[in-house]
This record gives sequence, structure tokens and C-alpha cells, in this order.
Amino acid sequence: MPRTFDPDLRRALAERVRYYHELGIYDFYRREPRLPDSMETASAAAEVGSASLSSTSSRASQSELREEMAARKSAVVPTIAEDNIFEIVTPKPEHGVADPAAALKVIREDLGDCTRCKLYKGRTKIVFGVGNPSAELMFVGEGPGADEDAQGEPFVGRAGQLLNNMILAMGLQREDVYIANVVKCRPPGNRTPEPDECETCSPFLMRQIAAIKPKVVVALGATAARNLLAMNSSLGDLRGRWYDFKPAGAPGNDSAWPGARLAVTYHPAYLLRDPRQKGEAWKDLQMVMKYLGIEPPKKAVD
Ligand code: URA
Repeated sequence: MPRTFDPDLRRALAERVRYYHELGIYDFYRREPRLPDSMETASAAAEVGSASLSSTSSRASQSELREEMAARKSAVVPTIAEDNIFEIVTPKPEHGVADPAAALKVIREDLGDCTRCKLYKGRTKIVFGVGNPSAELMFVGEGPGADEDAQGEPFVGRAGQLLNNMILAMGLQREDVYIANVVKCRPPGNRTPEPDECETCSPFLMRQIAAIKPKVVVALGATAARNLLAMNSSLGDLRGRWYDFKPAGAPGNDSAWPGARLAVTYHPAYLLRDPRQKGEAWKDLQMVMKYLGIEPPKKAVD
């Protein structure tokens, strides 16, 4: 359950974490909530490091430190993850940019002419994402194919045609939704993106989702579903139900956006290979439509 904590304490913690970063310490571990008093001072000393203690060796500063550590043990540590103190210390460039279109622009600029993973070697264009920056509904695919790589836009090939028809069948236009992929560069020969490629690129996808703040995210296929949900199950096991979804790194206490609901369905390329599964995919989309209050158009689209 999200907890709030005192702004002064938050600031003090942010300063302390920044201090650790300057020392080159980035990993933090939650301590047991109660330590015997005799261990408390030793533990506090270990935690701040001897350099810090020797520079703050007066009784007053040591007792302040003990108080801070006690407060941290009892109240703050469980809220660090929930309120994402690390986001406060090293905010993303789009932090505080309320307009989704502007935030997406900042994220795109941060992505730059990316060479963070090996996929850049074979790409023609980075395929960032397309659509309504304030969309209620977002589709996430796997990665660009040849057509997308050539045009710099997701889902413009055959699978994209089918996705467009699925969107129309829902009573929406392609321009109403936002479409992105787990990886932004085409994997060679359209192979499945490798785990290191997904890990490198998915923070950008998470930031896109956090900027758009959709009501619903639909994961198209197993790669999108597994990366978004951090689950390794089969697509058959993952689809047919809702998940609560908050992108990694998004603030835990954002009153403007509690997070999205996430549904999983078949990838359109899979449906082209096995059209018998279209009925099951339509059930998934109907679940989404019901939640969003969308009436299907009178005449169904093929
Ligand atoms: N397949 C995907 O997963 N994404 C695209 O953009 C195109 C095909």
C-alpha cells in the first residue's frame, strides 16, 4: 500500500542517496526493520561509511545520524521503492513535462541516434512509435520488420494492415491509439529480439507508456507480453485476463494516473499465419472495448 512521507525527510534521503551515488554506490538493500540497539550504531556507521563518520564525528551529528537511521528504518525504507526515490535523485529528462506530446519528444531526443545495443548495426530507421500521444489505448508489438525499418513507423506492413483492421473493428481509427514496439530497431532477418536487446530498449517503452498514461495497454504477442509483465508464460496462458500495469520507473503515487490495465492478445503476424485464432483475438479486443466503453461499429470490418 502506498505511503507518504515527510517532504523534509524525502529531501534528506534524496541528498543521502545522491551522496552515495557520488561515492559510486548504486545498489541499496532493505534492512531488517528491527536491529538490537548495540548493532544499530555499527550498522548506521557501516551504512554511511567511515569517511562520512569521521567528517561528522561530533556527538550532535552522530545522534542526528542515529535519529535519521531510526526514522529511515521505521518509516522510509519501505516507501523508497513505492515512491521511487531514485527517480527523485536522477529524474528522467521528461520528468515534470506534463504534456504527453512534449514528453514523448523529449524521450525521442534522449533515444537519439541510438547505439545502445547491437541492433543499430542493421537498422535503416529507428521506429519510435506513432499515434495519439494522449491515447486511452496503446498497442505494443515486438519490433520493426522490413517495411517498418524502411518507413520509420510501426506496423505498416502486412501485420500492420491486419492491426489497422482490428482497430477499425473496435470502432476506432489508427490515429486514435498509440502504437510502439519493445525494440525500436529491426532485428536482423526479423528474428525475435534477444533478452539484452529488450532490456536495453524497454526502458524507453516504459517511459513512452508513462508519458501517454493510457487506460489500456494491449500486448501483441509473447515478446511484448513477457517484457511488459516480466513473466515467461506462454501466450495462451497470458491472454484472456486483465493485469494491473505500471511501467517500471513510474512514480508510485501519481494521482493523475494510477496505471493502466494490460491485456494480452495474439500478434497480428501470428494471426496471418493461423487465421483460426482470429476469433480468440476478437474476444480479447472485446474485453478491452467493454472496459473502455467502446461500442463496435454496426458493420463489422474484415
Ligand atoms: N511486428 C511488430 O511487432 N512490430 C511492427 O512494428 C511490425 C511488425
